[in-house]
Amino acid sequence: MCGVMGYVGDRACRDILFNGLKRLEYRGYDSAGIAVLDRDNVISLVKAKGKLDALQGKLEQLPSEATIGIGHTRWATHGKPATKNAHPHAIESIAIVHNGIIENYTDLKTGLEAGGVAFKSDTDTEVVLHLLSRELEEIKDTKKAIISLAKKLKGAFSLGLILPFEPEAVYVVKQGSPMAIGKGNGENLFASDVAALVDHTKKALFLEDGEFARITSDDVRVWDFNGKVIDRDFTEIEWSAESVEKRGYAHYMLKEIHEQSSVISKAVSKLVDESGKINTDALGLEGIELSRVKNIHILACGTAFISGMIARYAFESLAGMPTNVELASEFRYRKPVVDDTSLVIAVTQSGETMDTLESTKYAKSCGAQVYCLSNVPYSSISREADGLLLMDCGPEIGVASTKAFTAMVLYQYALAWGIATRVSGKVSVAESDLVSCLRTLPTKIDIALGQESKIRAIAEKYFESHNFLYVGRGAHFPLALEGALKLKEISYIHAEGYASGELKHGPIALIDKDMPIMALAPKDSYYEKTLSNIEQITARNGRVIGVGTEGDNKLADICDDVILVPAATIEVLQSIITVVPLQIFSYYMALLRGTDVDQPRNLAKSVTVE
Ligand code: G6P
Repeated sequence: MCGVMGYVGDRACRDILFNGLKRLEYRGYDSAGIAVLDRDNVISLVKAKGKLDALQGKLEQLPSEATIGIGHTRWATHGKPATKNAHPHAIESIAIVHNGIIENYTDLKTGLEAGGVAFKSDTDTEVVLHLLSRELEEIKDTKKAIISLAKKLKGAFSLGLILPFEPEAVYVVKQGSPMAIGKGNGENLFASDVAALVDHTKKALFLEDGEFARITSDDVRVWDFNGKVIDRDFTEIEWSAESVEKRGYAHYMLKEIHEQSSVISKAVSKLVDESGKINTDALGLEGIELSRVKNIHILACGTAFISGMIARYAFESLAGMPTNVELASEFRYRKPVVDDTSLVIAVTQSGETMDTLESTKYAKSCGAQVYCLSNVPYSSISREADGLLLMDCGPEIGVASTKAFTAMVLYQYALAWGIATRVSGKVSVAESDLVSCLRTLPTKIDIALGQESKIRAIAEKYFESHNFLYVGRGAHFPLALEGALKLKEISYIHAEGYASGELKHGPIALIDKDMPIMALAPKDSYYEKTLSNIEQITARNGRVIGVGTEGDNKLADICDDVILVPAATIEVLQSIITVVPLQIFSYYMALLRGTDVDQPRNLAKSVTVE
């Protein structure tokens, strides 16, 4: 949460910083700000409450010729969204941006106030500013002062600093939250995410926790918090500048929904070799001792958690492994039964979600082996892992996750299949059946995408609803949760997902003509039972949108509206196709209600607080 960005070089940096922050805005959009050094090496600063658009009008106040600066886009933790709490925070000798949370800030603030410091904001970051100022006054050596500062801070703190007395350099510090340094030609940059760097460079260096760097236009030096020089190479960034653009779509979410057939197609070519065999070597299992594994814990948050709930059907049925799927935010605060026979699978698009990171570390400390399924290279969670699979979906920027979800379901299914074959040598789904199912998925997703205008027309009938229920059975129960989550997060309609069989145990009391129900009813092994559940709803005047299988006239007959998609030949993988209309429906519901699809209120994409 929060995006930081910095530039030092020979180009005017005002717009570079602003455009970079645009790329990071998914990380938080409560307020934003930019600080640069002017010609006389004086800090010049603008800030605005709200999204970056609010800051744009103030950019003119910054000196246009400035070539060194830092910027920030905020997701509020300490202190409400307000201009005074927006970063950068500055005094005459320091401007600072911060991503993270200083856990001991109250104690530090009390000490600083006792020493006469007057605070202007309610943030934890301002504590860092004044503390660094004190360290610099006492130590008079920037490097040593930063080390001393870092040792006094507890929590997560990725910092960007400009210091007018060193006008040729920016400093960055990393602890907890991500920090990438981009190497340009006669210029260097830093950012929370490479998405902000790809317009300028394809080379990045990723700082590790406990490290800091001094960056000038032609040099980057890295040390750890003990002052030891770190020698690390820049790596090639695979994301292109084009991949972080909307490419003609009105929103990133819509673009990412439409990318799903190519994302799945790319995944299938990674998982299936030329001879039509599943390439289990692509699963990243080499570092995992499978003979030890007796149980699986999938740890994740949000949409990633729901993908794990679907994948459980595969881990249990294919690999025969007891599988616990758990919200990462709950896992480490109970006494979960996890030990050296456990395989923990951390599923995370960003690889940075704090709850997933901390619960993974906890499981590791109990002896579990850790496997990470993620979309972002060099992430904090992937660094904890013994086995890693990068999904390679390209950047997902819309806050509501779509393409990462379908890829998570696919890769976890392949992982379950791979573990099953490696552990027992046999698996209930034949390799040839899996391969033919996988190969047809992209076309079937395209067919589902082709229903966009029909789904929009259905959304036009329902967009003024205040509530929605989503129901499904089997792997379509978690998919009902995902449909409801998508709807509530971007359209702000109250929505709940339920197992169809649970309706009669409570939620059926809610049903009347004002409670539309999205019923997921593919022609799978639960089909007849699901149809009876739909009949129970319509008998009580509930309006039903059925999402089923192509050619299903029976479903069409009993529902008010119907969306039919192609069938997957493997039941659990059906969710990869069925989710598409759910995503499109929530997109148009949000659009028709006039909400901010890509940046829904109060949310952020990469949640690095607990
Ligand atoms: C946030 C995002 C969700 C995402 C969840 C987990 O809440 O808004 O879209 O599913 O975090 O994120 P991760 O990066 O760990 O998959």
